[in-house]
Amino acid sequence: MRQMLYSNIVIEKLGNLRVPLYVVWSLTYRCNQRCLYCEIWKTKVRELNTKNTFSILDELSSLGTRAICFSGGEPLLRNDLGKIIDYAHKKNISYIDINSNGALVKEKIEEIKGIRTLCLTLDGPEEIHDRLRGEGTYRKVLEAAHIAKKNKIIVYFRTVLTKLNLKYIDNILNLAEKMDITVIFQPVTLSTYGTSRHHNLVASDNELREAIRGLLLRKEKGNVAINSPVEVLRHLIQWPKTKRIHCISEKMFFHLGPDGKFYPCAWGRDLKTIERRDAFKLGVWRALKELPLSNCRGCNNTSSLEFIYRLSPLLKKKFDFDKGPFPASS
Ligand SMILES: C[S@@+](CC[C@H](N)C(=O)[O-])C[C@H]1O[C@@H](n2cnc3c(N)ncnc32)[C@H](O)[C@@H]1O
Ligand code: SF4
Repeated sequence: MRQMLYSNIVIEKLGNLRVPLYVVWSLTYRCNQRCLYCEIWKTKVRELNTKNTFSILDELSSLGTRAICFSGGEPLLRNDLGKIIDYAHKKNISYIDINSNGALVKEKIEEIKGIRTLCLTLDGPEEIHDRLRGEGTYRKVLEAAHIAKKNKIIVYFRTVLTKLNLKYIDNILNLAEKMDITVIFQPVTLSTYGTSRHHNLVASDNELREAIRGLLLRKEKGNVAINSPVEVLRHLIQWPKTKRIHCISEKMFFHLGPDGKFYPCAWGRDLKTIERRDAFKLGVWRALKELPLSNCRGCNNTSSLEFIYRLSPLLKKKFDFDKGPFPASS
């Protein structure tokens, strides 16, 4: 009861206010790989230099940011990544996650070893992973996972679900379980990072639904390698027929581009046209204030969904978790 009251107060008090609790920051769109389903590296922007990156971290910290995910492109291509991580720690941003393809982890482990978590993309057994992400990349991911774990970084995998790897889900889970690693499964999308050149990689809604139903079943039987809570899996099974969710991402979960531009949540939308505000020129506070609400009706971005559902105690009022992932009121 007390928890429900608290959730009402938090959400209502927030109103139009935005708190950048969790920021996904693409430090660069450059990349050392050319995965079949991703063309983010084609987006050319001017990257902030180290000093300007620090000044955004100063502001984020004072506005309450406690968790950052450095992503890309390939964030390990930034030569100042170690300095950026150290500075974020100094500013009390204690939860640092990195999304990486793993290729440079061995070379850069000394720079990144203070981070909390490392998300490595693993798309299947060697032949499938390498077909999707380039020859030799599978071995690099496994090597990166071992090195990171040895350095006390919590590793998790993200598997982008495509027509090519749906039938290898067990293979991925078995490997993950052996390595004591969890996996986030993300359906491929053609928007945001993607490319319609490879529309043949996209599984049909039915194929995806079956695969995720299988994950839910395994999860309910106690599989510990599946990272997502059951509510997220149920949501994905129903996608895109889900009812509107009360997404808090627009208020607490933001994306920053390499050039210091803020996006509300970029998932499923074209990076070139999506509304943004320049956090470097305007300052973080004003950029967030001026960023229009996109009134998004929901998505199939597993990371956002996990963020929403993990904050469930605060959101009890909006979601009826006993009945499923939808707002009880709609
Ligand atoms: C843009 S990448 C950046 C981090 C790093 N370069 C990597 O590949 O892990 C972040 C995540 O998005 C995933 N991704 C890329 N293109 C995608 C697409 N078209 N649909 C869904 N996920 C995608 C990647 O596989 C990776 O797990
Ligand atoms: S998915 Fe990651 S590694 Fe692959 S091309 Fe995109 S940014 Fe590069």
